[in-house]
Amino acid sequence: MPPASAPVPRHLAVIMDGNGRWAQRRRRPRVVGHRAGARAVNLTIDFCLRQGIEVLTLFAFSSENWGRPEEEVGALMKLFLNALEREVDELDRRGVRVRFIGERGRFAEAIAQRMAAAEAQTAGNARLQLNIAASYGGRQDIATAARALAREAAAGRLDPDSIDEAMVGAHVALAGLPAPDLFIRTGGDRRISNFLLWQLAYTELWFTETLWPDVDAGVLQQALDDYAGRERRFGLTSAQIAPVEASA
Ligand code: FPP
Repeated sequence: MPPASAPVPRHLAVIMDGNGRWAQRRRRPRVVGHRAGARAVNLTIDFCLRQGIEVLTLFAFSSENWGRPEEEVGALMKLFLNALEREVDELDRRGVRVRFIGERGRFAEAIAQRMAAAEAQTAGNARLQLNIAASYGGRQDIATAARALAREAAAGRLDPDSIDEAMVGAHVALAGLPAPDLFIRTGGDRRISNFLLWQLAYTELWFTETLWPDVDAGVLQQALDDYAGRERRFGLTSAQIAPVEASA
């Protein structure tokens, strides 16, 4: 059973919201906010490395974000490509392993190739696992797992009655990694927005009004401090989770 609480989360998952509003408040185009958001990504990676957080999963682009104005989607794609070209060597040097989750086939060939190259270059690193959700949707993730299991069953290699939570969990994105301990959403909205629906089942949720480009180590530390004070019960009772303290 996982510990009732841990001082530092092993896995942090983040919805980086508020780039557009950050730019609009400065009367600048939304893409300026996304560029500022990229700086906050670097800062967050630094923070995780300093704190000893093992896994960081960032929601960079949802399946639904393809529906944004063409100009914004194009600018975001350019930003992703630039970031991949500029940052991967440094991430590699710092021991960061990069992985992408989501529908890679929807990206232009140049970006998909860069994603694969970044994964290959950093595959041997183990200091921090950085997962970037791009063209990702939690429902789509679960549907993909269901399809894979259905194929196995249809081929006669799997008894449908043997399908349990562990088996589904082994077929969704991030299989093999600990589930997120702490979820942060910036920008004031209190929603999961189709992020990691399966994986967030028992994750502690933390929301802040701070817009993503304004996030700094102080904001991230606030989230960690709040997390450290929480009791994680995983559906059990306080007494079961901490029998010694409860009976004292
Ligand atoms: C949500 O803010 C943010 C996004 C859709 C894009 C996230 C991208 C980055 C932080 C840039 C770089 C990322 C990487 C991994 C290099 P929003 O546009 O929905 O903001 P709003 O709610 O204020 O409109």
